[in-house]
Amino acid sequence: MGDWVQVADLTELARRKRKLVMVGGEDIALFLIDGQVYALRDTCIHKQRSLSKGVVLRGRVICPGHQWAFDPATGQVDDQEQCQPTYDVLVENDKVYVDPVRRLGGTRRVTGGEGQYELSPSPAPP
Ligand code: FES
Repeated sequence: MGDWVQVADLTELARRKRKLVMVGGEDIALFLIDGQVYALRDTCIHKQRSLSKGVVLRGRVICPGHQWAFDPATGQVDDQEQCQPTYDVLVENDKVYVDPVRRLGGTRRVTGGEGQYELSPSPAPP
């Protein structure tokens, strides 16, 4: 595990469903989707639009630029061979933390509360 950086309160994210934060000089878009927090690099890999200004549709983050649909857990783009960088997320005691080490093609999800959390294995590479 890397160095976790606190970036948001879960109650705030529950209200707004998204938040743009800066960690280690990088803009990161947080999304709360179906009770799970996800973190993706905010700048779209296609033409540099801001994913935090996009919408969430059927569990996908839709870029406002050209409507590419990103899997928020892996950064994979539907119908493309490209991948948006993602970040590990830890939720503990209503605080949201991000590991600033970015991942490509799969992310380790960390969830929890009451001081306990569990790690899920990263998805196998395609
Ligand atoms: S800028 Fe994101 S899809 Fe084109």
